[in-house]
Amino acid sequence: MRVSLGRVRQLFTMQRVLTQNVARLLALSLRTKLSPSVRAAAVNMSTLLVNRPQYSWLRELGLGEDNDGVYNGCWGGQGQVVTSYCPANNEPIARVRQATMAEYEETVQKAQDAWKVWADVPAPKRGEIVRQIGDALRGKIKALGSLVSLEMGKIYVEGVGEVQEYVDVCDYAVGLSRMIGGPILPSERPGHALIEQWNPVGLVGIITAFNFPVAVYGWNNAIALICGNVCLWKGAPTTPLTSVAVTRIVAEVLERNHLPGAICSMTCGGADIGTAMAKDERVGLLSFTGSTQVGKQVAMMVQERFGRQLLELGGNNAIIVFEDADLNLVVPSAVFASVGTAGQRCTTTRRLMLHESVHDDVVERIAKAYKQIRIGDPWDPNTLYGPLHTKQAVQQYLAAIDQAKQQGGTLVCGGKTEDEAFAWNNEVKQGLSSSIFTKDMGRVFRWLGPKGSDCGIVNVNIPTSGAEIGGAFGGEKHTGGGRESGSDSWKQYMRRSTCTINYSKDLPLAQGIKFE
Ligand code: UN1
Repeated sequence: MRVSLGRVRQLFTMQRVLTQNVARLLALSLRTKLSPSVRAAAVNMSTLLVNRPQYSWLRELGLGEDNDGVYNGCWGGQGQVVTSYCPANNEPIARVRQATMAEYEETVQKAQDAWKVWADVPAPKRGEIVRQIGDALRGKIKALGSLVSLEMGKIYVEGVGEVQEYVDVCDYAVGLSRMIGGPILPSERPGHALIEQWNPVGLVGIITAFNFPVAVYGWNNAIALICGNVCLWKGAPTTPLTSVAVTRIVAEVLERNHLPGAICSMTCGGADIGTAMAKDERVGLLSFTGSTQVGKQVAMMVQERFGRQLLELGGNNAIIVFEDADLNLVVPSAVFASVGTAGQRCTTTRRLMLHESVHDDVVERIAKAYKQIRIGDPWDPNTLYGPLHTKQAVQQYLAAIDQAKQQGGTLVCGGKTEDEAFAWNNEVKQGLSSSIFTKDMGRVFRWLGPKGSDCGIVNVNIPTSGAEIGGAFGGEKHTGGGRESGSDSWKQYMRRSTCTINYSKDLPLAQGIKFE
């Protein structure tokens, strides 16, 4: 039966949930565990979790009471001492000594020296080192996943999951190490060859965020390495133990292979180190993951010196549910993408748009699913919703709930067409991830096309979060435009040379110019 346009428009009354995060609206009854409210200035040694028998696995990762937060072939850390706290119970885990500016300087110099060695290692041999890094991570996946859970606060399976992302991207990079290259193009001149050659940018600075303290470094590290770059990593100041533990694993592989450890350097620190990296002409590419606000400052500092940047900034991701959606897919997708990682992924669903014909049903089913969600300690296997990472995050969460209550939760907008629903997806400043739920193939392809989603990640019948490493990860507009991990993201870590070689005895000029 043909449905008139007017009828379609009437049917297509969309309701959108205007909250910062769908979880925050629908989980009004959820009580989040308040994360550290008071942090003791001085922490007694004996109270550190690292000293308790049930956390002895931290020793397996090479962690102790006091840990060096600098690695450049040697371990160091003469700067400020930071204590890392567990967001679930506000207990201090262990301490890390951050880098001073002098140590930063020394590390950059050592990384540059290391590059001279690393750039000469053939790409497939670099791949072999990355393969060993992947294997070393496999061997420690449970302990490292547990540390992520303990220090960041995400549930154990998600902690392990992000170590798995690093393992997977290592495998991907190993294959890539035998595949990267440019084409040989037809020259218009006889006896000439036109070749595209890719070379490493040199030193890649990597600044990562608290929410993925392993995976995002892994995406950058594995790909940058096979391209022939050396890396300098600054992780989030609130997840320094994870940075140290990962670097210990990587360093062990490099040292075992008699390679300079500075190939994978680390300087733990705060905004001082981050700013130094952004302004440093020796940092050929700066890969930054974090907020749009800080990303903008970083971008301007890097641009000011005509450096290269790769930005992975915030998302404001939407799910659109059409009238023909399979609700058995919608409900678990919306729950995973809003509750997973306690709503702290950059790919977390923050907006939900529901066709009026499914609205009540979806809201009821999600609310029911939410009631079954276990809130608790992140390492309890039954927990799906652990603590938020910081006290600030808790305050933002509570403010968002207040805001949602004031707004009455949903805004009903009548008479929306498919195009208008797509426009709603695109109306925000960010452009990271987006999903529709539909069985209509025409709609699917319109969604992928020029008038569809303007995001870097465009999904159908799956959540906004949980991307695979094989695709390029990143987003448009205020999300920053960078792409990491799979597909041809490797090109961001290399510079392209167009090479023309004359192998004849003549000198014909391009465009047929006669200059005689
Ligand atoms: C992030 O939140 O910064 O797609 C990265 C996902 C994960 C990565 C998220 N694979 O949700």
